[in-house]
Amino acid sequence: MTSERECFVYIVLPNETEFVTAARFRISRTRDGEPVGELIYGKSYLARGNAVELDPTVLKLSSTQYETARMSGFFGAIRDAMPDYWGQRVIERNAGQTGLEEFNFLMQGADDRAGALGFGLNAEPPAPRRTFNRILDLEKLQATAETILNNQTDDIENQDDVQELLLEGTSIGGARPKAVVEDDNSFWVAKFSSPQDRWNHPRVEHAFLKLAKLCDMNVADSKIVEVGGKDVLLVRRFDRDHTDEGYRRHRMVSALTLLRSEESPAAKNDWSYLLLADEIRRTSSHPEQDFTELYGRMCFNALVSNLDDHPRNHAILAKNTHWRLSPAYDLTPTLTIALQNRNLAMACGLHGRMANKENLLSGHARFLLNEEKANFIIDDMINIIRSEWDSCLHRAGVSHQDCKTIRGSYIYEGFFNPIS
Ligand SMILES: Nc1ncnc2c1ncn2[C@@H]1O[C@H](COP(=O)(O)OP(=O)(O)OP(=O)(O)O)[C@@H](O)[C@H]1O
Ligand SMILES: [Mg+2]
Repeated sequence: MTSERECFVYIVLPNETEFVTAARFRISRTRDGEPVGELIYGKSYLARGNAVELDPTVLKLSSTQYETARMSGFFGAIRDAMPDYWGQRVIERNAGQTGLEEFNFLMQGADDRAGALGFGLNAEPPAPRRTFNRILDLEKLQATAETILNNQTDDIENQDDVQELLLEGTSIGGARPKAVVEDDNSFWVAKFSSPQDRWNHPRVEHAFLKLAKLCDMNVADSKIVEVGGKDVLLVRRFDRDHTDEGYRRHRMVSALTLLRSEESPAAKNDWSYLLLADEIRRTSSHPEQDFTELYGRMCFNALVSNLDDHPRNHAILAKNTHWRLSPAYDLTPTLTIALQNRNLAMACGLHGRMANKENLLSGHARFLLNEEKANFIIDDMINIIRSEWDSCLHRAGVSHQDCKTIRGSYIYEGFFNPIS
């Protein structure tokens, strides 16, 4: 028996602000019930002079029908535009049921998806939205997010509140509670705190983003706003740019997709900065600059114990027809008591995931860096982190107690140990 779910894929082309229809996407099932994804670009889309590919690895512009049996049929570029853990929770809360099919998440995700893609059942794309949530609305969005987090189903007086959250911040990925708001002619990812947090996450993440900037990295802009007595981190979206005609949307593909990998435990063996560098070499219009940037990012994560640096926390971005490594985002400490050995989420040298100087140096050639330059990048970063750590946390308003709590993430002892 076969069953099918299908939709149209829309895209906002470079330098434009409205969706056009690009492709059809379908999930069908084999006789054994295994899902297979199929994607075919529209003839009229391919005939446009300005058509662009949905992703630079698998879905190149072509009249071929693409098929995949991996990831339940969801091509990486489509998965990147889908709600993740947090968005799925809001959608299920709104639907009043759990265990929804992935295709439902794709269709019910809001118009705030990362990147330039949209999805719908009509051949004609929807008109662009003109009004968006603003910082003023954050208090209510935060309160609704909290009740969802606490599973306090009776506390939501009005189902419209969940609907509102559904429209803002379900499709942008990630696990933490969040929404998307417009302010100052930009879109911002608003990241709320969560009741389980052991420190003020918004302020600490803000401090880490600023520290990364001081280390000369390309980093998303951020600011803190206080809403209803709580801090919210606003991170400026780099995949949207304001123009007089509306917002441009830039294509964005995660490193998970570039690596053709997934989140299953077995697939984690492919998670590697070295393999990511190989993919950047193939896709970036400026690979040498992006190699230096990626190498620095990997070293920064090791130095400040941002150990949750999984491949959805890296992306490439196409502001026009060319792909580049995106600015850094989601930089936050992971506390571990291990003083001798810490692991990043991705392999960062020839000795695996060890967040260790010798290991970081060992892979230098894959980033087209000689050992001297790689050494210089690390030592320079160590000096900056040592001199700026305290003042960065202080300027971001991190409390004395929180500074003490996260102190263990700062350049840990084992970083300098020789690998035996
Ligand atoms: N500044 C930004 N501009 C555009 N897209 C962004 C930006 N920041 C985050 N994103 C997108 O939103 C997703 C979720 O953001 P982020 O990683 O900060 O959230 P999170 O919930 O902390 O994630 P995690 O699940 O890794 O803890 C990212 O994977 C990325 O696709
Ligand atoms: Mg993340």
